[in-house]
Amino acid sequence: MMSLSEILNSRYSVRAFKKDPVEQHILEEIFSAAQRAPSNCNVQPWQTYVVSGAKKDQLKNLLIGTVMKQQPPEPDFNWKVAYEGIHRERQFGSANALYSSMGIAREDKMKRNMAMLRNWAFFDAPHVAFFTMDTYLDIMGAVDVGIYAQTLTLLLKERGIDSCMQGALGQFPQPVREFLELPEGRGVLFGMSFGYADDNADANKTRTDRAALQDAVSFVS
Ligand SMILES: Cc1cc2nc3c(=O)[nH]c(=O)nc-3n(C[C@H](O)[C@H](O)[C@H](O)COP(=O)(O)O)c2cc1C
Repeated sequence: MMSLSEILNSRYSVRAFKKDPVEQHILEEIFSAAQRAPSNCNVQPWQTYVVSGAKKDQLKNLLIGTVMKQQPPEPDFNWKVAYEGIHRERQFGSANALYSSMGIAREDKMKRNMAMLRNWAFFDAPHVAFFTMDTYLDIMGAVDVGIYAQTLTLLLKERGIDSCMQGALGQFPQPVREFLELPEGRGVLFGMSFGYADDNADANKTRTDRAALQDAVSFVS
C-alpha cells in the first residue's frame, strides 16, 4: 500500500478516465472512511451526492445544456475567480500546463472553451461527487468541506482511483439543485469527477509545480 507521502507525490488532477465504474462496496468503504475527516465543532457540514450511471449522463446533459446558453455563472457561494498578482500568475500557469499538454495554443479560444466544457461532462468519469452544504455556513463550512474533499481524494488514490476537484461544478447550481432535489437552504459548493485514470490521454500528462517552501511557510521561533 502506498504511504501518504507516496500518494501526495504521485497524485495529480486527472481529467480523462476509463469507463470502468468503481464497485459499489469499494465506494461505500471509501466514503465511510472519509467520514473521519475533522470539522469545526464536529458539525460535519458536507452532504455529498455521488452520481453514476444513467443518472450521471442525464445530469451531464442538463449541465452542458445550461453552460452552452453562455449565461454568467450563478454560484451559491461567493466563488468569484478574480485572482490577482502571484495568484493570477499561478492560475495562468496551471491553465497553460493543461492546454499545452493537450496541444491547445494560447490564442485558440474555441479549443480552450471546448476543453473547459469537459468539466460539465465530468471528463467522462464514471462517477461525479457534488459537495453540498447549508449556505448559511459560508466560510466555516467551506473550510470543513475542503478538508473532507481532500481526505476523500487521498482515500480514493490509496485504492488507485483518481479524481479532479472542480470548482466549475459549483458555477451553475440550479440544474444540480433540481436534479438532486436539494432541500431549501442548501448550496452546491463544488464537485469532483473520479474513476480510474486513462493513462494514455493527453490531458493526463499535465503536471503543475509548487512554490518553494520559503515562499509558503514561515517558521517562527
Ligand atoms: C477547490 C478546487 C477546485 C478546482 N476546480 C477545478 C475545475 O473546475 N476544473 C479543473 O479542471 N480543475 C480544477 N481544480 C484542479 C486544480 O486546477 C489543480 O489542483 C491545480 O492546478 C494543481 O494541479 P494538480 O492537482 O494536478 O496537482 C480544482 C482544484 C481544487 C482544489
